[in-house]
Parts: sequence; C-alpha cells; structure tokens
Amino acid sequence: MAQEQNTPQGPNLTQGVALTDFVDGKLLGHVGDEAVLLVHSGGEIFAISAHCTHYHGPLAEGLVTGESVRCPWHHACFDLRTGEAERAPALSPVACWKVERRDGRIVVKDKREQPKPRGAMAKADAPQRIVIIGGGAAGFAAAEMLRRRDYRGSITMLSDDDAPPVDRPNLSKDYLAGSAPEDWLPLRPDDFYGENNIDLRLKAKVAGIDARQRQVALAGGERLSYDRLLLATGAEPVRLPIPGADQPHVHTLRSLADCRAIIELTKNARRAVVIGASFIGLEVAASLRTRGVEVHVAAPEARPMERVFGPALGDFVRALHEEHGVVFHLQDTVTAIDGKRAALKSGGTLDADLVVVGVGVRPRLALAEQAGLAIDRGLTVNEYLQTGAPDIYAAGDIARWPDPHSGERIRVEHWVVAERQGQAAAANMLGHKERFDSVPFFWSQHYDVPINYIGHAERWDTITIEGDVKAKDCLLRYSRDGRVLAVASVYRDLDSLKAELAMEQAAAR
Ligand SMILES: Cc1cc2nc3c(=O)[nH]c(=O)nc-3n(C[C@H](O)[C@H](O)[C@H](O)COP(=O)(O)OP(=O)(O)OC[C@H]3O[C@@H](n4cnc5c(N)ncnc54)[C@H](O)[C@@H]3O)c2cc1C
Ligand code: FES
Repeated sequence: MAQEQNTPQGPNLTQGVALTDFVDGKLLGHVGDEAVLLVHSGGEIFAISAHCTHYHGPLAEGLVTGESVRCPWHHACFDLRTGEAERAPALSPVACWKVERRDGRIVVKDKREQPKPRGAMAKADAPQRIVIIGGGAAGFAAAEMLRRRDYRGSITMLSDDDAPPVDRPNLSKDYLAGSAPEDWLPLRPDDFYGENNIDLRLKAKVAGIDARQRQVALAGGERLSYDRLLLATGAEPVRLPIPGADQPHVHTLRSLADCRAIIELTKNARRAVVIGASFIGLEVAASLRTRGVEVHVAAPEARPMERVFGPALGDFVRALHEEHGVVFHLQDTVTAIDGKRAALKSGGTLDADLVVVGVGVRPRLALAEQAGLAIDRGLTVNEYLQTGAPDIYAAGDIARWPDPHSGERIRVEHWVVAERQGQAAAANMLGHKERFDSVPFFWSQHYDVPINYIGHAERWDTITIEGDVKAKDCLLRYSRDGRVLAVASVYRDLDSLKAELAMEQAAAR
C-alpha cells in the first residue's frame, strides 16, 4: 500500500479561489505546506485535510455524500464539518479549516479546533465496567470508540497476544515485504492506553465466562466483573494435519510474532513453499517475492481465489503472480514436510527453507460455547450485535449477524467489518440502539495491485464485467436472481464507492 507524498498541489487557498474553479464540487489546494481539499456540498464550502488518516489516501478522488467524504482506497468516511472519522478503517479525524466568502471568492482561514464528534455520547447511566476480550480490530475499535464517546467508566481489554493491537492486514503486505517501517504497525502508540485509562492486559488469556455472575475468569485464576462484555476473540489459522507441520520453519500467519518469525527465516531462505492460494497465502507470496525469495504455491483449487472472485479475476491474480515469478502447483497439495522438502500429492517434492500455511481460519468460539451462547457457524448476534445474553455483545471474525444487504445471516473475516462492528457494539453497550448495517468491505493487495470488494456473495449466477480485467481497470458485479450482491474492482475506486452507496440506498428502501 503506497503512501502518497504530501506535496501540496494547486492554489494557495488563503489567497482565495472562485467557485467556478471547482471540478465536481471539489478543489485541491494548499495552506502553507498542508494539502487542503475544498468541498462544495449542500450550498456550503468545507475545507479539510486532503489525505485520509488511515493510509494517506487522496480524498480528492473520493466520493462526497451530503456532509461526508469517503476515501477511495479502503472506504473510510469523514465528516466534512467536524473532520471526524465516521467510518473505519480510519480512526483519527482529519484537520478542518475555517472558510470565508469574501467579494465572491472563497478564502481559507485558520485551522479549526477539532469539534466534538457528532455521534451520540455516553449517557449518565452508562454501565460502570466494560470488559473486552480481544485486542484485535474489533476489540481495539470498541475501546477507542467508548472513549471517543466520552465514556468515563472502566475499560479492561484482555488479549492473549503479547503485542498491543496492531494493523494486522499489514502483516502479510508491506511489513512482511520489508517496505513498511515498524512504526506503521501499532494501531496507537503504547501510551494511548494509559492516557485514555484503558487497562490493556497482554498475555491475558480468558479461560471462561460466567454469564450469570457477569464475570470472566483469566487463565491465571483472577476473576473480573463486568456490566457489559464484548467478545472479540477473532479467528485462528487452521493447522494442517500433515507430518512435519510442527517443524520450526513451518508457520501460519496471524500475529506480529508469527510475522517476525517468518521475516527472520527469509534472511537465509532461498525458496519458500506457500500452502494455500487464498488471500493470506497469496499476499505472503507477493511479499516474499519482494524480498527476493523464490516462491512455490501449492493449493487444491484450479484457480486462485475463484470461490470469492470468479474465474476472470482468479486468472488475473494467477497471471499477476506468475509475472512476478511465483510458481503454482494447483489442484495439488502438500502431504508431508520432511525437513526442507515438501512432498506433493501429485508426486515429487519442493525444496522449502520456509513453509507458510495459509489454508483458512476458524473463529475462536470456545469461550462463547462454554458460556452457553447460541452458535451457528459463528456466534449468533442480532442487528445490535447483542448475543442471547443481553449484557454480552460480539464483534469481528466470530460474529454472525443479520446482514440487511444480502438478507442473510453472515460471518466474514474482514478488517473493516471487525472495526465497524467494534464501534457499533461500543455504542450499543452504552445503551444506544445502533443497527449494524454497513455494507461489508474488504481489500486485498498483491504487489502494487489492490483489489476492493464490497457486499457479500457466497453464490452468484452472473458476473458482469465492466472494463478490462487484464489491463487492471475493471469492475465486476456478482448477481443472483438479477440482484447485485457484491462488486469487486481493480483501480476503479470511485465506481466502487458509488456501488457501495447504491447498495446502502437499496437496503434502506
Ligand atoms: C496477515 C493477515 C492479513 C489480513 N489482511 C486483510 C486485508 O487485507 N483486508 C481485510 O479485510 N482483512 C484482512 N485480514 C483479516 C482481518 O485482520 C480480520 O478480519 C480482523 O483482524 C478480525 O478482527 P477481530 O477483532 O475479530 O480478530 P483479531 O484481530 O484476530 O483479534 C482477536 C483478539 O482476540 C484475542 N483472543 C482470542 N481469544 C482470546 C482469549 N481466550 N483470551 C484473551 N484474548 C483472546 C487475540 O489474541 C486477539 O488479540 C487479514 C488477517 C491476517 C491475519
Ligand atoms: S487510505 Fe483511506 S481508508 Fe485507507
């Protein structure tokens, strides 16, 4: 994910511009050395920082809807009036400037103090003690949102990981490839937790939940009481039950520790074998190629990612990796790993100084099961992300929720969904009633090519393709019975945002 350089373009906005200079309601300029975007919407002019606080996406290429602008890269959304990050994956606000109209010109003045967020704030009768199990996307976003909404009660975040919440998607992308510095990884600096009175406890494994007593039990025996509990235990990689999978050069990838162990091995590895040709496996393949390691990918399917993207995009992904030197062994699998040799089902062996297993994940449901909560291929929650126990909420990879867009109960493994669910659960734990009705979104990145996907289509009967897949300029619509369920795109960011808006509007009708 390349970060854009912040070289201010366009006019000096403190000197004034004319409304006729705007194109499609937007104008990019600068104030000093800061890039500023002017937006003309609803008869008003707003001035905000031109770059998204997630990965510096260019908001000038985003979609304006009323008083919000959506980022073209990963669909964060900012309030034009306050700058607040209304939708993850951005969590921090963008700066806003005062604007004046003088003699028919629009003049940008000083930066404004960050106003209070416009969302509903914590009420006086908010619960006293909130416990969050999970220090990942959903758990972190919930804690952050609780404090953003001025919640003053106690927040305890329990994570059995040894690292504070990190930007997990980066672990298979730029960080693994060696092109992102370490300081991109933490979702917040270490002092954020103390400063915000969030009791983040690492290496704290929760062993059980007593829903009747409203207590969680830590593996060490300590018990913590809660008024509201958020379960955000995520998912764990499926391990391959094959001989040799327990050797030190065989890894799955979920945590920062996993990622560091793989990076360490790449220092002396000539060749890696990746087992699995889905998202994690292929992103890892791309990152290892960037590090100059030879990569062979073995997977049972005929086309990479066909189950999610269909044949055209699957072929594109395969060709993209082959152009970068990846060798595929499709409709095949690794049956055993004997030292540095991986045996293929089809016969033959592959040399492997490093093996990365990316064959899917399983939601971590043990705690929910033990607490007697309803399980159906995930932890069942209602539209407010509440489980059958009214004080217990769930978010992220474990939650199966009623999705208004597909009309089905779904469970997904998407970063942005986990964060947005954490945020919605936070509001609901405070006594608000916020339906979780976001259109699911994920992105995947292979070398310099991002693929964005909105909606959810487990099955489809038609794929319509606009543009040219091979030319990396396309939008694919996945429909069933004439209804578009999902849209994938490569370098069609604005169209992807428009398709997302259309899905939101269709569900609201
Ligand atoms: C390498 C990698 C790359 C990815 N890339 C993308 C991407 O590009 N786009 C995308 O949309 N998605 C991506 N994902 C998926 C995305 O990261 C997940 O969907 C998201 O992290 C789910 O958030 P979560 O909070 O549900 O779970 P997690 O982020 O996994 O967090 C779960 C937390 O719960 C803790 N925990 C679990 N059980 C216990 C227990 N008993 N006691 C205490 N703590 C416990 C864990 O330690 C962890 O802190 C990627 C995932 C990985 C691993
Ligand atoms: S860069 Fe804006 S959402 Fe990621």
